[in-house]
Amino acid sequence: MNEQVQSTTFLGKRLIYYPEVESTNKIAKELVSKNEPNHGTVILTGYQSKGRGQASNLWDSAPGKNLLMSLILQPENLQVQHQFYYNMLISISIAELLQTEIPKTIQIKWPNDVLIDGRKTCGILIENHLRGNFIQNLIIGIGMNVNQIHFHSTLTKVTSMKLEQGFDFNVREILEKLLLNIESWLLKFNHRDFGDIRRAYHAKLYRHQEEGEYRAEGGQFTGEIIGVNEKGQLQIKIGNQLKNFSNKEIEFL
Ligand code: BTN
Repeated sequence: MNEQVQSTTFLGKRLIYYPEVESTNKIAKELVSKNEPNHGTVILTGYQSKGRGQASNLWDSAPGKNLLMSLILQPENLQVQHQFYYNMLISISIAELLQTEIPKTIQIKWPNDVLIDGRKTCGILIENHLRGNFIQNLIIGIGMNVNQIHFHSTLTKVTSMKLEQGFDFNVREILEKLLLNIESWLLKFNHRDFGDIRRAYHAKLYRHQEEGEYRAEGGQFTGEIIGVNEKGQLQIKIGNQLKNFSNKEIEFL
């Protein structure tokens, strides 16, 4: 069903809601393949039968409880070298939204999670389509635990907005506030305010400038996160050495 988000300027002006789908990212991909303009289109659902997470994991979410959405962006002249800024600005938008709703520690866990008091509340799955050196389409999949209070027993470090605050949230209102945040960070990107984006991201970065345990290249080690570089690599100081890790090369312990 086609609807609209009212308060935004350009995001969610086409909002397509399905009570149930396999995956909103899959629907978004099908839309994008039709080559029609879809900048700002949002696919929203109440339930995904094959929700997709990072690293080919499934994203499991109880029916009708959470925010399950994909936002399509079709930026003009977005160079591949700048793609991680989109990951940053989406993460910041989610973290800021959670921070206005929940007076607890909200952090971004590189590269795709947002945490409340160290527990995962939101996962992001961004899929890009390139043409040459430019990104033609971004499909930004967001799964936010809003009103779910029971999780699979194997998931220990997980939470939801309701679990943290003790009351239900309106998922449509959460969507609207999130899109407003994304709009303002996209404007900053368009104005080339890269420093602001990097500062806001690092201010919320989980374990930033703290010692932590990691596993990479088959070994376990202690290191301090120095930051995330423009390529989106996590920079860790291990002893006197600075090492850069790409997504999937390192595990937080
Ligand atoms: C992760 O943390 O592993 C990323 C999870 C991303 C889940 C969202 S839910 C909406 C969108 N559609 C999908 O199939 N996945 C993303």
